[in-house]
Amino acid sequence: MSINYSEKIPNNVDLANDRKLQRALEHWQPHFLDWWREQGPNDFASDEVYLRTAVGVDAQGWASYGHVKMPDYRWGIFLADRVADRTIGFGDHFGEPVWQQVPGELRSQFRRIIVTQGDTEPASVEQQHLLGLTCPSLYDLRNLFQVNVEEGRHLWAMVYLLHAYFGRDGREEAEALLGRHSGDADNPRILGTFNEPISDWLSFFMFTYFTDRDGKFQLKSLSESGFDPLARTCRFMLTEEAHHMFVGETGVGRIVKRTLEVMKELGTDDPGAIRAHGAIDLQTIQRYLNFWFSSSLDLFGSEVSSNSASSFANGIKGRPDESQYEDHVCADSSYDLETPDGVERVNLRNAMNEVMRNSYVKDCEIGIKRWNMQIKRAGYDTPLSLPSSRFHRSIGSWSNMPVDPDGKIIDRDVYERQLVDWLPTENDQAFVHSLMQRVAEPGKMAGWIAPPDRGINKLPVDYEYVRSH
Ligand SMILES: [Fe+2]
Ligand SMILES: [Fe+2]
Repeated sequence: MSINYSEKIPNNVDLANDRKLQRALEHWQPHFLDWWREQGPNDFASDEVYLRTAVGVDAQGWASYGHVKMPDYRWGIFLADRVADRTIGFGDHFGEPVWQQVPGELRSQFRRIIVTQGDTEPASVEQQHLLGLTCPSLYDLRNLFQVNVEEGRHLWAMVYLLHAYFGRDGREEAEALLGRHSGDADNPRILGTFNEPISDWLSFFMFTYFTDRDGKFQLKSLSESGFDPLARTCRFMLTEEAHHMFVGETGVGRIVKRTLEVMKELGTDDPGAIRAHGAIDLQTIQRYLNFWFSSSLDLFGSEVSSNSASSFANGIKGRPDESQYEDHVCADSSYDLETPDGVERVNLRNAMNEVMRNSYVKDCEIGIKRWNMQIKRAGYDTPLSLPSSRFHRSIGSWSNMPVDPDGKIIDRDVYERQLVDWLPTENDQAFVHSLMQRVAEPGKMAGWIAPPDRGINKLPVDYEYVRSH
């Protein structure tokens, strides 16, 4: 079904024929807009931003670009098309027809998962609330806002499910999604990483590379769900998510590129000299990478989890790319986990978080390889790397263990002393913040980042992507 833009809430779920649901969502809509005004991109409400809006849910449905004031963005409810005769692809219900309604006995589990996913979406907008004020270019400013409006739409996606399938509880949860705020001492967002402020663009690019990629894997596993409306919602969200990771990968890549240019120009790899020249040394980039990677790994949860076992068994949440596996039931298989106390053999269903984390880590490697190609081509042998997934963890069996980035357990004193080499220090943060000066002339770039190879939608890099008034 195509998207109906003539309605107050654009949708492809035939909202007009469900008056009760329509009224409930129209009641939520002004609360969402209030939230956007208070917590969304600060000071840019009257700017015209060159944004893309989905007009269809197929691969071609993306082509609508134009200047829009963000509060007028057409947030709506878009589900990927229904797959005929779809069956549940994993767990105890393997092969049974998918559900169009939530099975009563799984209601609270489904609700918790939808609320947790939904909570991350507005959280990231809140984390990036002030970032636009220090944009390195209009191109980047536009990309930030594109990510922000889409995270807003992802919130809509989850709120639709809560309203449409969870009755009164769902409506209350939808309100609460606007009540929690990132970093709020009394009412914070649910997951730790989403309470970390993102006040500089290096962190923003790391976040979109690593944390949005966690989002990709969560959405991939939910798009396997036996609850079909959830699966279809997430399948469409994945098409939006891809752009967020593009922003992260190319953002970090452009910072690396600029750093290499400065290294070449100065003929040195001395961090002090690079910094004095207004670029970010590779060591600092590595420390930010270590922080955001390890923090994003925690989002997958503990290695051993009865929750993830029951989500898998009950058909709630599959593995990303479930069809690639041979065994979709996994009732009697085991998994060897490496813990600080040695190898522990557990039931595979209980290790699903770890299975997912491993495929995430592999996906993270792709960008690292591209960044390293640039470093190698520039003639340096100081590649960036992912730290061990045991390093700097706060959740699971490796949490708070003194482990170095290679994954070796070391003396705690040595660990504490060495942390300044491995994670961003106050000095790093102060330096990175000092670079964050607004550049808002079309085509101009801040000195710490190279221009992108190409603009958005085949437009030149110096196009006026954001028109301010
Ligand atoms: Fe999202
Ligand atoms: Fe995202």
